[in-house]
Amino acid sequence: MADIGYSQKVLEHFMNPKNVGTIENPDGYGKVGNPVCGDLMEMFIRVENDIITDIKFKTFGCGSAIATSSMVTELAKGKHVDEAAKITRNDVADELDGLPPKKMHCSNLAADALQAAIKDYKTKKEANKRK
Ligand code: FES
Repeated sequence: MADIGYSQKVLEHFMNPKNVGTIENPDGYGKVGNPVCGDLMEMFIRVENDIITDIKFKTFGCGSAIATSSMVTELAKGKHVDEAAKITRNDVADELDGLPPKKMHCSNLAADALQAAIKDYKTKKEANKRK
């Protein structure tokens, strides 16, 4: 696999992905589809005092999507939601030492799902304030 341009880091996350699974009653939930390949990604976050204390993902995506999601969850864990909201698609690929160009769209899925989960958390928080 390394021959077609996957870095060692991508391979490591692919073989041993972190934070796979779901969270019951998450504080934030995001689901996005990949317009390029049609794969799906779900992201669940547990948040305490605006800090992401737990994060899990579930995907029907390919190996690159699994590796990048694993990476994104590791980057986001322990961060303030506003900090985690700054994790971009490019950070993810940089952190993984790059992805083959054909696979860049897979890494977008993870960052987009994280952003969707944070947005969901913030929307719920606002709604609770008004109660
Ligand atoms: Fe669909 Fe990578 S090919 S997420």
